[in-house]
Amino acid sequence: MSNPSLLILAGDGIGPEVMSQVQRVIGWFGDNRGLNFDVSEDLVGGAAYDKHGVPLHDDTMAKAQEVDAVLLGAVGGPKYDDLDFSVKPERGLLRLRKEMDLFANLRPAQCFDALSDFSSLKTELVAGLDIMIVRELTSGVYFGEPRGIFEEGNERVGINTQRYTESEIERGARAAFDLAMKRDKRLCSMEKANVMESGILWRQVVTEVSKDYPEVELSHMYADNGAMQLVRAPKQFDVIYTDNLFGDILSDCAAMLTGSLGMLPSASLGAPMDNGRPKALYEPVHGSAPDIAGQGKANPCACVLSFAMALRYSFGEGGEADRLEAAVEKVLADGVRTGDLMQADGGTPVSTTEMGDALLAALDASL
Ligand code: IPM
Ligand code: MG
Repeated sequence: MSNPSLLILAGDGIGPEVMSQVQRVIGWFGDNRGLNFDVSEDLVGGAAYDKHGVPLHDDTMAKAQEVDAVLLGAVGGPKYDDLDFSVKPERGLLRLRKEMDLFANLRPAQCFDALSDFSSLKTELVAGLDIMIVRELTSGVYFGEPRGIFEEGNERVGINTQRYTESEIERGARAAFDLAMKRDKRLCSMEKANVMESGILWRQVVTEVSKDYPEVELSHMYADNGAMQLVRAPKQFDVIYTDNLFGDILSDCAAMLTGSLGMLPSASLGAPMDNGRPKALYEPVHGSAPDIAGQGKANPCACVLSFAMALRYSFGEGGEADRLEAAVEKVLADGVRTGDLMQADGGTPVSTTEMGDALLAALDASL
């Protein structure tokens, strides 16, 4: 049998730096655990624009459709701020999500014990926090038509459309309920059914799907209240299911609760392929961080943990994913810190590569 295939799209800013540490981790699993991947690399975002004049070349899109999983670093940077909307780096990422039909975006917000006093919230509110946000990723206002800037009378009007079909709401809901079944069996669905028809439909469809999951306790919350509850008492949540735009905002909020954006991975999953694996793209939640790019300071942990999610969700290697996650926790517990994890009074930060060294040493120690 051939090795599973991985396409690495390191992208812009700190993307290539953090991804080079992931490459070392991938190599470690080949050398020590007999897990070998066929790895290919290509361009996305500004890096693709610089070479091809588009943020994602058609050939790259075709490759992404063929591989078992895509690992993405980050896209964007100030250099590309003035580009036409249609070729902005972000369009490359949005095209991947849409054409691969990656409808379920899993964004865990987990507070690492060693970092629980990093949050802007009181430690006791976030210690042990473990939330999973499932964000619908291929529809809603991000993609709805009509959209555009039009002339109306003597002024311009900007239009975007929030649009959800039942089946779109339903398939994401099933992904969220399935996850809840493997966790604490609680699901909170968030929308604005008080002002939006799409929210009313959302609530109805999620309620219908819940009949197939009698063990999961379902609740509903208006998304604005959800934002408030996330900063008031975040540990009340287990799995949150919400739409594309609310999910974008609420997941940033949840990520910041942990105090360490540089630690959080994500998975974007679609329907199963012929080999039974879901279409999948894994990426850190942090962006391209242009302010520190190229300086060897970036924290590779979120990108490494994204590879752990790939092991778990694409390759059925939950045990090896646990091993990698435990290595990250060990390194943190040992006090190894990149600059983003330093406190004002704190020691000397390690470089991106030194963090990689520490992770490999922790993996070695796990054998
Ligand atoms: C995210 C980002 C993207 C989004 C951008 C880069 C297009 O904010 O993944 O959360 O809005 O979805
Ligand atoms: Mg976002």
